[in-house]
Amino acid sequence: MSRVVVVAGATSGIGRATARAFAERGDRLVLAARAPQTLAEVREECAGVEALTVPTDVTEPGALEALAEATIERFGRIDVWVHTAAVMAYGRFDELPERVFEQVVRTDLLAAAGAARVALRHFRATGAGTLILTGSVLGHITAPYMSAYVASKWGLQGLARTLQQELRDSPDIRLCLVNPGSVDTPVYQQAANYLGQVGRPPPPVAGPQRVARAIVDCVDRPRREVSVGRLNVVLRAGFTVLPGVYDVLVGPLMRLAGLSGRPVGAHDGTVFAPNPAGESVRGGHLPDLRQLVSGPVGAVGAALRRRFG
Ligand SMILES: NC(=O)c1ccc[n+]([C@@H]2O[C@H](COP(=O)([O-])OP(=O)(O)OC[C@H]3O[C@@H](n4cnc5c(N)ncnc54)[C@H](OP(=O)(O)O)[C@@H]3O)[C@@H](O)[C@H]2O)c1
Repeated sequence: MSRVVVVAGATSGIGRATARAFAERGDRLVLAARAPQTLAEVREECAGVEALTVPTDVTEPGALEALAEATIERFGRIDVWVHTAAVMAYGRFDELPERVFEQVVRTDLLAAAGAARVALRHFRATGAGTLILTGSVLGHITAPYMSAYVASKWGLQGLARTLQQELRDSPDIRLCLVNPGSVDTPVYQQAANYLGQVGRPPPPVAGPQRVARAIVDCVDRPRREVSVGRLNVVLRAGFTVLPGVYDVLVGPLMRLAGLSGRPVGAHDGTVFAPNPAGESVRGGHLPDLRQLVSGPVGAVGAALRRRFG
């Protein structure tokens, strides 16, 4: 049966891949983020299913309630709420402007809590529904120069677990926290930067479609927490069992694998306003298989076919 799915954070990365994945299953969509022009593009990508776009800044008072109301008005119900809206900021804690730190926490933690409040009130009234929040492996471990993001993701981890305990009386209302490791999305380039060099996802890097599949799968097979990333378990074990060793290694590893070395001037990235030009499903940190097939690999294949076929 076609479900009504709200995706907040639908214009880029994991949220955009998730919108497409639900569309492929024939679900009806409500697409939300700040950039209206990119929302219209995503609606085009989801052609074939009914999709409503609702330009929304999740940090604005009343915005999440308005998103829920627009959904009910159009579709009469909400079955699934996926919250992927988030921003990131690089910088040493004492050098990161307070306003940037606070806006990251407002977006990544407080707005996720706001979405949970709106979605769960609706689900409690109707008796059923699935809420999917996106945490991170950084909700279980820490990394330098990402204090606002890490603090938000640890807060989200605690919030999700608390809400899951409160929901034990309502077995038809599900809350799933999806925790990716490194994913190839634009979030690293879109981040505010007060560190002087551009960030990047440390390897191994997963494709956003993989996280999208995990999110869709959570609706069919709800679980409390889903980890997407081959090193997540190892990182969590190292952080917990050998904290002293972890703390010695994490700084050098972050500088080696998590930062590109490419210099950049101080800027606020998308923390306060969207950058539609930088929005896409992928961040360009992994080769796109389709481009490889139509590019060099395809050319070699065509040459071999001409020679031998
Ligand atoms: N990429 C990774 O490696 C990774 C790893 C672990 C966890 N995650 C988590 O996965 C989720 C998705 O991240 P991503 O990598 O896909 O990021 P992304 O490509 O940068 O997408 C972020 C989305 O959030 C929206 N957004 C940001 N601020 C907003 C606001 N105030 N109001 C409404 N929408 C807002 C953006 O649209 P507008 O700017 O147009 O509003 C965009 O659609 C996040 O929770 C992130 O923390 C990502």
